[in-house]
Amino acid sequence: MSTQNHPLELPEGSPLVRFSGVTKRYGDLTVLDNLDLDVGAHEMVSVIGPSGSGKTTVLRMLMTLEKIDEGVIYVDGKPLSHMERNGQLEFANEKYLRTQRTNIGMVFQQFNLFPHMTALENCIEAPINVLGMKRDEAEERALNLLDMVGMLEKKDQHPTRLSGGQQQRVAIARALAMRPKVMLLDEVTSALDPEVIGEVLNVIRALNSEHKLTMLMVTHQMGFAREISDRVCFFYEGKIAEQGTPDQIFNDPQNERTKQFLSAVLDAN
Ligand SMILES: Nc1ncnc2c1ncn2[C@@H]1O[C@H](COP(=O)(O)OP(=O)(O)OP(=O)(O)O)[C@@H](O)[C@H]1O
Ligand SMILES: [Mg+2]
Repeated sequence: MSTQNHPLELPEGSPLVRFSGVTKRYGDLTVLDNLDLDVGAHEMVSVIGPSGSGKTTVLRMLMTLEKIDEGVIYVDGKPLSHMERNGQLEFANEKYLRTQRTNIGMVFQQFNLFPHMTALENCIEAPINVLGMKRDEAEERALNLLDMVGMLEKKDQHPTRLSGGQQQRVAIARALAMRPKVMLLDEVTSALDPEVIGEVLNVIRALNSEHKLTMLMVTHQMGFAREISDRVCFFYEGKIAEQGTPDQIFNDPQNERTKQFLSAVLDAN
């Protein structure tokens, strides 16, 4: 394992999230290729790039849904993919992952609320069962969050009675209920009807401007990425081909791949 050059902990002042030389393969296919990616505290980083370039994989690795093959992922200075044992890093075991996973909140493209639970129940399930919160306390937190995403009135509805946009807002509240250090958003508006996209984008805007969350967002909505991001990363074949401020990436891209991608997606709109 090539973790020898990786420290057991990052020095103070390091970025909140760090991918250090991360490689992920599926059989012969290298999906993430020696990837270095940092996300600073309170930073909003957008990930753009062609289909299959590894954008979702980055989020899934950070959510610890699968093992990486090489490199180390750190969150808040501590290894996430690995744990220390006898002064060395080795792959994290399930118990360590379960604890570390509570630091990460993720919202997916397909609304994945628990169908048999109401909006409120969806938001208290993990705080009670994973964090061990008391029911009253979990409910109070959940009601505040449902209010913040404009879903308080629908707290007792089941997901089938909610629109896609409403379900996504509950999904955001549910992720926030764990008070994650990092929020991951994977094309959260791409399965939505056009008329409800705005209500979800407004919630993300508020998380960014009022709550200053640390967010890593995969999106095909270039206008939104441009408006909201501190930094935009253009992915190509499992690597960051180019990154910079929205102004740099959208107005003055340097990489040929970035130029091609942007002209293709911007022409299509
Ligand atoms: N579980 C898996 N098994 C095998 N290959 C996979 C698996 N998950 C992803 N891949 C492959 O990894 C590559 C990157 O996939 P990923 O989902 O990260 O792409 P993406 O950039 O999110 O694309 P899109 O814009 O279409 O969502 C693709 O070629 C995909 O087919
Ligand atoms: Mg994807």
